[in-house]
Amino acid sequence: MKAIVIREFGPPDVLKYEDVPDPQPLAGEIRIRIHAATVNRVLDVSLRAGKETRRNPVLPLIPGVDCAGTVDTVGPGVTRWTVGQPVAAAGTMPLKPVPEDCEDYDGPEGMMGIKRPGGFAELVCVPACAVVPLPDGIDFHAAAVVMRHCPTAWNLLVNTAKLARGETVLIMGAGGNLGMTGIQIARNVIGATVIAAAGSDERVQHGLDLGADHGINYNTQDIRAEVMRLTDGQGVNVLYDNIANPKVLPQAFLALGFRGRLVTAGAHGGPNVTINFSHLYHSQITIIGRPGHHAADLPRCFAAAVEGKIKPQIERIMPLARAAEAHRLMESGEVTGKIVLDPTMR
Ligand SMILES: NC(=O)c1ccc[n+]([C@@H]2O[C@H](COP(=O)([O-])OP(=O)(O)OC[C@H]3O[C@@H](n4cnc5c(N)ncnc54)[C@H](OP(=O)(O)O)[C@@H]3O)[C@@H](O)[C@H]2O)c1
Repeated sequence: MKAIVIREFGPPDVLKYEDVPDPQPLAGEIRIRIHAATVNRVLDVSLRAGKETRRNPVLPLIPGVDCAGTVDTVGPGVTRWTVGQPVAAAGTMPLKPVPEDCEDYDGPEGMMGIKRPGGFAELVCVPACAVVPLPDGIDFHAAAVVMRHCPTAWNLLVNTAKLARGETVLIMGAGGNLGMTGIQIARNVIGATVIAAAGSDERVQHGLDLGADHGINYNTQDIRAEVMRLTDGQGVNVLYDNIANPKVLPQAFLALGFRGRLVTAGAHGGPNVTINFSHLYHSQITIIGRPGHHAADLPRCFAAAVEGKIKPQIERIMPLARAAEAHRLMESGEVTGKIVLDPTMR
């Protein structure tokens, strides 16, 4: 099969498009014929550049931390999946052979595309328990983007912040991927009031176009003052960050109201940020870091996408062979939305 292989960390040119042996599924695994895999700022671009050594990627590596496609073949002990079924996979998963449902597995785990071969390939083997069936009404490119961002955003807003209908949420990085997904979950799934905040008028407008009720450009406006004006001095119930921008987050933190919740799964703009502890305790604020997702939320995300409540924002779809160019585009800042690689495209 064709795949992207990294043998050393470095510039985008270390991403080599090569012929490699077809992977064979172990017990409890299925092999997916990939139609889409997303390109990510941290887990792909920073990892390739050698800046994510904390994650201990295993070289040589086929990167790509998610994929969508069809079941190509199944390994020993897999009975519940059929060849041709549309599926998606992402995230942390068992690294050794497993029972089909991963029941009682207590071996090592790791992310596809970091600790085991990933989605920048024509084929990938993954444990069946890490795979989600796709409903009708969603294509592979959209499915890969939903798989990548929706379960994390859903876990942050629904399970962690427990954002409720009628509450107000301040979404930072409103033109970013988790930001755009968060706006749609908060507005269209939960029914909260959404303030979309970003560092440019264009990205704020993007948040408004996705359904946010209000917008703030935190590079030209005082975010705390604006939030207080929009909330009649109450502040927001939830601050959804995922960036940790030290120039902006301290002021946004002061926009949290009584018993406010700050939730986050990212810190690429930091990681060190000054927090006003007086506001923290006087306002009884909770700060929760929560990466990852719950498997039970995956079908909810795909159902919301099929219903049109979550529209995945795709900027470009490119052939797998052009992975290095996709990385260069992300690094240049020319592309802010999602780039999806499609190994079936020539
Ligand atoms: N499944 C997931 O999506 C997932 C899971 C776990 C963790 N995370 C983490 O969550 C974070 C957000 O992911 P994402 O895909 O939403 O990111 P993204 O779309 O690449 O970026 C989000 C926003 O961050 C701001 N930004 C970009 N580079 C910056 C820099 N150097 N300094 C300060 N701000 C910067 C930009 O907003 P403005 O310029 O408008 O402020 C951008 O729109 C990442 O750290 C990621 O690793 C994501």
